[in-house]
Amino acid sequence: MGFRKVAELDALRDGGVTGVEVDGVPIALFRMGNEVHATHGICTHALAFLKDGYVEDGTIECPLHQGVFDIRTGRALCAPLTRDLATYAAKVEGGAVLVDLDSASDSPASE
Ligand code: FES
Repeated sequence: MGFRKVAELDALRDGGVTGVEVDGVPIALFRMGNEVHATHGICTHALAFLKDGYVEDGTIECPLHQGVFDIRTGRALCAPLTRDLATYAAKVEGGAVLVDLDSASDSPASE
């Protein structure tokens, strides 16, 4: 299916996380200036939405048990996490944020 528009860049807080849903899949969008990264929206440890987490220095801290993921790679950086987070290709074009859901880097948390 390729890249699809999921949000307007202006609607995303710089340095923050925003949750969107695409075809029933929760996605977390992270804006860093004019760059956007996209990951699966649910923690790989339990049912927690990363849109409610805390962004710091290129990482997202889960709101439930404080597991930390690298936003760019989805890599799980500390306990209690044992599984990396799926990431998706994302880009900004003409003020629109586009994400390619077919580009998932890893299995989503909802297995
Ligand atoms: Fe995210 Fe436990 S649910 S660290």
